[in-house]
Amino acid sequence: MVKVEGLAGRVAVVTGAGRGIGLEIARALAANGARVAALDLLPPDDEAGILALETDVSDEDAVDAAFNRIEEELGSVSILVLNAGILPLVPLVETSTELWERTLSINLTGAFLSIRRAIPGMRVLGYGRVIGIGAAAGKSGGARSAAYAASKAGLMTLVKSVAAEYAREGITANVVAPALIDTALLGGARELAGRVPVGRLGTAAEVASLVAFLASSEAGYITGEVVDINGGTLID
Ligand SMILES: NC(=O)c1ccc[n+]([C@@H]2O[C@H](COP(=O)([O-])OP(=O)(O)OC[C@H]3O[C@@H](n4cnc5c(N)ncnc54)[C@H](O)[C@@H]3O)[C@@H](O)[C@H]2O)c1
Repeated sequence: MVKVEGLAGRVAVVTGAGRGIGLEIARALAANGARVAALDLLPPDDEAGILALETDVSDEDAVDAAFNRIEEELGSVSILVLNAGILPLVPLVETSTELWERTLSINLTGAFLSIRRAIPGMRVLGYGRVIGIGAAAGKSGGARSAAYAASKAGLMTLVKSVAAEYAREGITANVVAPALIDTALLGGARELAGRVPVGRLGTAAEVASLVAFLASSEAGYITGEVVDINGGTLID
């Protein structure tokens, strides 16, 4: 587990932290001394030092209620990781309007709702770290993933906008853009491992280490950046 500076005692929120990449991020931040809240439809069970809150990130009232509880129980949030996401793999012409809107409402609007709720507290602290989990597909687009790719492109520029607007207030905002990380989200795409230039899938722990660094006090001069973590799958 990566060791970074400046997380001790800080309050961190990780969305979609019930499993996969989000759970590893929550563990990495907690291992570095952060007080972590995990928001998910299915939050994690019995994770030491992690406050698990059942929350649908696309539901404005639910997000507000979760932040109210976090502020009461843990304190003001200074680290926000926007990780909750879904990946429907459907040809574009078969993508229903409902599926398009659901994908955007979780992957993009969900991130917006958490950012909007968290920023005022960060401004009072004069310190914040916002980290969006984008995707290589958010840069390149992708076959059978139009809604997903569009949502991730939106998330990535949303986070850059946070960087532009709040840099002077001690708040940094960056994106991590993974591809082909070995989690349940990949489903049948695991067979693509052989096509990754480094010759294997990435791990959730590798993504978590990168996020922990961006969340640390050592990363204060990095903002508005998209950091790829894809084994060379997309080199741009
Ligand atoms: N695995 C990859 O290769 C890969 C590649 C690029 C980007 N990503 C991104 O990384 C993030 C995590 O992906 P993962 O691979 O760990 O997937 P995952 O499916 O294992 O985890 C996603 C989590 O988000 C939660 N979630 C879904 N909808 C939610 C909602 N409405 N409210 C709250 N939580 C919700 C799920 O319950 C789940 O725990 C996603 O945003 C995904 O798009 C993953």
